[in-house]
Amino acid sequence: MIRIKKPEEIAVMRANGAIVAQVLRECAAAIVPGKTTARHLDDLGEKIIASHGGTPSFKNYRGYPAAMCISKNNVVIHGIPDDVPFEEGDIVDLDVGVFRNGFHADAAWTYPVGEVDRDAQKLLRVSEEALKQGIAKARVGNRVGDIGAAVQRYVESNGFSVVRDLVGHGIGRELHEEPSVPNFGKAGKGDLLRPGMTICIEPMVNEGTYKVVTLADKWTMVTADGKRSAHFEHTVHITREGPELLTLDTLASARY
Ligand code: MF3
Ligand code: CO
Repeated sequence: MIRIKKPEEIAVMRANGAIVAQVLRECAAAIVPGKTTARHLDDLGEKIIASHGGTPSFKNYRGYPAAMCISKNNVVIHGIPDDVPFEEGDIVDLDVGVFRNGFHADAAWTYPVGEVDRDAQKLLRVSEEALKQGIAKARVGNRVGDIGAAVQRYVESNGFSVVRDLVGHGIGRELHEEPSVPNFGKAGKGDLLRPGMTICIEPMVNEGTYKVVTLADKWTMVTADGKRSAHFEHTVHITREGPELLTLDTLASARY
């Protein structure tokens, strides 16, 4: 069942989304090549969330052991923070959820560490734009398949691939609600988008094959061919006026 949120519930999610955005901004700003570790960012993120009276959505979710997922280079998603310093040239996906006043908000962004090579620059540019292409389809009267089709078309026409084994999702009182929001598929198919729906659109874009492998820790997902991957995510509110991004620092540019 897809749960429609009331305006006062959306207001809670919007406030939580601002905390998510603050965590991403402050963590990204804290990265010093050759020095900062994922564990440091995880601690920083958890402190920021706690300072607002929230808890990290991911911690203990199905046994997940950290506040954030931090996924570097060939790690697609669900990287567990470790003590290895980021190096110049890495790309780092920071993924964070905040639970507060009964609701979740969830976003992710992939950042370059210092100077990255041209292929990495293109991967980041195309992946971020793929998210925007998906968001642009998140309109009343469209269907979930319109989002995935737009993301897939944009990514593949730029020579990259979209991960199939993980998808976006509805979000609200639960971190993962219906509907599933794949980053691939057919336009015109799937659930109808209605006002008050809240969904996470989160393309995972690979340089090479779309195939992924889960490591022995049961969380870390890496590309099957060892090439790099990027991940961008926003929590999006479907409104009659168009998509509203709930995971922004300020409300000024929330209308997409
Ligand atoms: N953004 C991811 C998702 O929505 C992160 C989940 S991490 C987990 O699925 F630990 F909570 F699973
Ligand atoms: Co998500």
